[in-house]
Amino acid sequence: MNQVLDALVFDAYGTIFDVHSVVTACDVRFPGQGKALSTLWRTKQLEYTWLRSLMQCHVDFDQVTADALAFSCRALGLEADEQTLRDLPLTYHTLTPFTDSLAGLRAMQGGKRLAILSNGTPAALGAVVDNAGLNTMFEQILSIEEVGIFKPDPRVYQLVVDRLELERERIGFISSNGWDAAGAKAFGFTVFWVNRGGAPVEALGVRPDYIVNGVDEVARLVGG
Ligand code: LAC
Repeated sequence: MNQVLDALVFDAYGTIFDVHSVVTACDVRFPGQGKALSTLWRTKQLEYTWLRSLMQCHVDFDQVTADALAFSCRALGLEADEQTLRDLPLTYHTLTPFTDSLAGLRAMQGGKRLAILSNGTPAALGAVVDNAGLNTMFEQILSIEEVGIFKPDPRVYQLVVDRLELERERIGFISSNGWDAAGAKAFGFTVFWVNRGGAPVEALGVRPDYIVNGVDEVARLVGG
C-alpha cells in the first residue's frame, strides 16, 4: 500500500452486515417470495435515500426502510398487514455479519482506528452491532442523522473528518456499495471497494483505490 492510513471507516449495511439475511423472515411471512421481496426492498430503500436527499425531504433510515418495504409488497402483490410492516424492518437489528467481515475486523482490531459511517439511525446501528457482538470493535459509530442527508452527499463523508479529526487522505473507507465507494472516492478518501459479486466499477468518473473480494482482504492490505 502506498497510502498511510490512520483510520478505517466502514459502511454498515451490505458491507459488514448482509442485508439479504432478511430473506428468511420474508419467506416465513410470504412463502417463496423472500428473495424477490428482499431484492426489491433493498433497491427501493436505496432509491428512496437518493430521492429524498434530492427532494430535500429527509426522513430517517428507519422510515425509509419501512416505506420501501410497504412499496415493495404492493409492487409484488403481497398483502402485508400492519404488524408485518412493523415487524419485518426489525430484522435490520439482527442482520448477519458476513464471514469475511468478521474475520477482517477481528484481524484489524487493536490496530488502526476503526469506525462505521452509515445511513442507519444511531439506535438501529447500535442494535445490529451489539447483536453481532461487535460493540467493542469501533471507536465511533457515525450516523448520517447528524447531518440529515443521506450518502453520497459529501457532507456525510465530511462528518468522518470532523469526528475523527483526521485529514481525509489519512482515512480509508470500505464499502461494498459501488455508489458509496464512488462517493467516498470523489470526496477524497482512500477507498476499498468490497466487490463480492464481481460487479463492474460504477461509471461515475472515479475509481476505488483497491478492489477486494472481502473485508478480510482489506486487513491483509493494511497489515491488520
Ligand atoms: C449504509 C448503506 C449504504 O449502511 O447501506 O450506509
